[in-house]
Order: sequence, then structure tokens, then C-alpha cells
Amino acid sequence: MPAGITPRLEVKALADRRVQPVISAENLTKVFSSGVFFRQQTTAVNNVSFEMYPGTILSLIGESGSGKTTIGRMILKLLRPTSGKLYYKGQDVTEIRGKTALREYYRRVQGVFQDPFSSFNPLFRVDRAFDMVYDVFLPDVKNREERTREVLQAVNLNPDRVLHQFPHQLSGGQLQRLLIARALLLDVEVLVADELISMLDASTRMGVLNLLVDICKNNGMSVLFITHDLALGYYISDYTMIMHRGRLVEKGATREVYHNPVHPYTRMLFRSVPDIGERWDRSEKFVPEQVDEEIAEFYAKNRGRGLAQLSPSHSVLMSLE
Ligand SMILES: Nc1ncnc2c1ncn2[C@@H]1O[C@H](COP(=O)(O)OP(=O)(O)OP(=O)(O)O)[C@@H](O)[C@H]1O
Ligand SMILES: [Mg+2]
Repeated sequence: MPAGITPRLEVKALADRRVQPVISAENLTKVFSSGVFFRQQTTAVNNVSFEMYPGTILSLIGESGSGKTTIGRMILKLLRPTSGKLYYKGQDVTEIRGKTALREYYRRVQGVFQDPFSSFNPLFRVDRAFDMVYDVFLPDVKNREERTREVLQAVNLNPDRVLHQFPHQLSGGQLQRLLIARALLLDVEVLVADELISMLDASTRMGVLNLLVDICKNNGMSVLFITHDLALGYYISDYTMIMHRGRLVEKGATREVYHNPVHPYTRMLFRSVPDIGERWDRSEKFVPEQVDEEIAEFYAKNRGRGLAQLSPSHSVLMSLE
């Protein structure tokens, strides 16, 4: 873990069922079919179940291609699940249709992506972009400029500097902060933050992360924080999910997953990072095939256990059947 980073969140027990989840996924699966002549099927997300709670940050960690973005895109209704269920406050997300219902959904559920440029119309200045947010989602707000200035200041942007700029005149970090300001303005309940800070320098990164944590805690926002970075995941999240080839292999309270990793893939991840979990052994090379073998042995040894709950706030995929 980088110097100066200490976990700042107190973990509430996952078992605290008094709080209703804002998003819940039940056996969520996404299969992509591609190829014109040779149909090829990719199971990007395989039988995944999890919950997102208000005021908490849930990290989703896994190697490239493991299915993280696909989960985010299903939550944002950019992709339709192949099977399984996704609920927003008990309502089936795939059944949210019609202009009014969709608008209400997008008012509450928003995403911030790795490439913030793609989220802005290059032809519109920032003030115009905010105007459109008001037109579509908040037509009754009277003091638009005042509200906009408030949320810009909340994300440490100088309104006078950014309001009259075009997107290409702003940095990636500024654009991401604008997206967070928009989420703040809309008072979103669910934010999907996909590789949010990967393009920022170290100091801006900490600013954006702290901002996200503050908004989450103060406004009760629920964040799905998708990242490759284990140290950041540890720093920022209340709960952690580890994804491997479309499956959630381990999930639970961040401290439990990080301090007591059980699945061979999670253990391998922590081995490859210095100072988290076990000590980093430089002589130890990460060999993917070896991990595949370890996983196969692990599943064989634990046959019949499936997704096992090891504590009220820690579950591990012990076997596939
Ligand atoms: N539209 C699509 N059509 C076909 N296959 C897709 C599509 N989108 C994603 N996939 C496949 O689904 C799998 C999961 O992709 P996804 O983008 O969810 O991974 P990821 O975990 O977000 O990876 P990264 O860390 O690189 O962003 C990959 O094998 C990918 O090639
Ligand atoms: Mg991705």
C-alpha cells in the first residue's frame, strides 16, 4: 500500500439487513455472441450475485476481461442481462421502460467512465452541458447558476474557470470531477465508477477519491468502484468483490477479504502486490497456468460447497458444483 494511505472507513457488517439494498443482482449472467461465420460465445458475467447498500463503496476488482465493465453496463441499462435478475430498490431493472421511468432511473443511477471525454458533447461548453442536465432532469430548479456553482465548488473546481470552457480545454481530472459534480447535482443514489481515477496523477487522484468518499458518506450514495488497483480498493471501499473470468470468486467486508483471502485467485492477486496481505516475495513469479491449476485443485478439494459463507460478511466460491 502506498505510504500515507490508511483505510478510513468503518465497516458495517454485511449482515446488517435493516438497510435495504439499492441495487441487488441475483445470478446475473451475460453471454456475448460474436462472429458472423463462426458464432462464438463469451460468458462475460457468470451467475453473479451481490448487493449495493446506500452510503457504502463496493469495489469490484479483477484482471482485464474478467467482466467488471459488463456488470457496470448492465446496471446502467446499456446491456441487457442474458439471465438472472437485477433489481433497483426491488424493481426489476429490465422492466424499467418508457421515457418517464427511464429518466427517473438515470436521474438516480449514473456512471463515470475511464474516458471522461466520451461523456461530453465536444460542441457544448460546460455551462450548456449543465443546462441540459437541468432541462432533462431538474426542470423545476429556479436558481440554476447558483446550484451549479455550489456543486462545482464542492468538487474543487473554480466555476469561473470551467463554466465557459469546452471539454477539450479541460483536463481528464477536471472532466471527471465535472461528472462527479453532475452526480452531486442530481443527488444520485448509485454511481458506477469504472476505472475512475486511472488517468489522474497521484495528487489529483487522492482529491477525487476523498471527494467520492465524502459524497458517499454524506449523501448516502452507493458506489460501485471498478478498479485494477488493490491498494486503492483497500483504501476506499467498505466491501470488496474479486472477479475472475466472469465469476465472483470472493466477496465481503474489505478488511476480511484483504486480511484473510481464501480463494487461490485472490491469494495470487495479493501475492503480486507488495505490502498487502502476505509479504511480497520477489522471487515468486506469477504464472497464470499455475494459478489455474491451483484453482482446479481448490475446487476439487471443496467439491459440493459452492459459494460458501465463511462469516456473516465474507463469502468464497469454494467449488463450481
Ligand atoms: N460487446 C461485446 N461483444 C462481445 N464480447 C464482449 C463485449 N463486451 C465485452 N465483451 C467480452 O466480455 C469479457 C468481459 O469484458 P469486460 O469489458 O466486462 O471486462 P473488464 O473486466 O471490464 O476488463 P478491463 O479491466 O480490461 O476493462 C471480455 O472477454 C470481452 O472481450
Ligand atoms: Mg473494463
